[in-house]
Amino acid sequence: MLTATARAHTNIALVKYWGKRDGLPDQNLPDVGSLSLTLAELFTETKVEPAAADALELDGAPAQASVAQRAFRHLDRVWSQSPQRDRSRPGCRVVSSNHVPTAAGLASSASGFAALTLAAATSFGLDPDRAALSALARRGSGSAARSMWGGFVRLDRGVLPDGSDCRARPLHTADHWDVRLVVARATARAKTVGSTEGMTRSRETSAYYPAWVDTSAADLDAAEQALAARDLTALGRVVERSCFKMHACMLASEPPLIYWNATSLNLVQAVFEARQMGLEGYLTSDAGPHIKVLCRREDAAAWADRLRHVERVVDVAVLRPGPDATVTFETAAR
Ligand code: PMV
Repeated sequence: MLTATARAHTNIALVKYWGKRDGLPDQNLPDVGSLSLTLAELFTETKVEPAAADALELDGAPAQASVAQRAFRHLDRVWSQSPQRDRSRPGCRVVSSNHVPTAAGLASSASGFAALTLAAATSFGLDPDRAALSALARRGSGSAARSMWGGFVRLDRGVLPDGSDCRARPLHTADHWDVRLVVARATARAKTVGSTEGMTRSRETSAYYPAWVDTSAADLDAAEQALAARDLTALGRVVERSCFKMHACMLASEPPLIYWNATSLNLVQAVFEARQMGLEGYLTSDAGPHIKVLCRREDAAAWADRLRHVERVVDVAVLRPGPDATVTFETAAR
């Protein structure tokens, strides 16, 4: 076993993933595909090294037991693919830090599980095939499968019951299109219902869930085409449609999943108004209250200024397309 450190950048879904397939819970198979943009400024760096017993340090402090258990279970998954899988997994010390500016308002599970997968795979001597590592990362967190690559990434749902064709693949590197994502934080508080619990509730109770699943593949293809043509107007239409359909599906769950607050709605209104005035940009929002606007590089400052002036907005950040996940340090164990 080696000591290895990996860095992975977080991503924003332009076409959303919401909902897991029934059965095979450890495979964590999405019910819909998704398409994302990896972000330069936000990343997680994670070191995996041999130790007498498992331990997880997160941002300079011992992690909560539930968070640590989830990480150790993920180490078991990575070990089960290693050349030494017949032996029991050695103890590991995992040290992870999130590099997220305060104005991010973006979850770290995507970058966290991608960095953990890459560091552990390097440490345990796995074949560094990206697609296989991405499939492993997906089992920690669906969005993490997309963070294995930079730029624009598509995660296909696949059709096989065992999930072996549920794969992410890079569509374009970051330099394909120098767009910006302007993130407006609508609260400083953490979200209430986690994505796994929320997705289960939507699948089991939302009358709109079947429609959400049925219409997703067409959105993915339309977004992929618009992206290849660097057509912001066409891509933006799909981005907003996918976001509003996901939130409609969430709202129709029982009890309803309302991730937005009053500030989120004010931001949505501000985006529509600014667009009517001729500033082009399209919004998206995840399982939380923050609103993110996709726009051209030259319009980012105007968007940031516009969103900063919406009542009760906490702060605004401008983010760029980011790179692949990488191994930053590797050494033989003592
Ligand atoms: O895979 P998770 O648990 O990070 O869930 C991601 C869910 C959304 O952020 C709402 C959408 C997405 O595709 O990232």
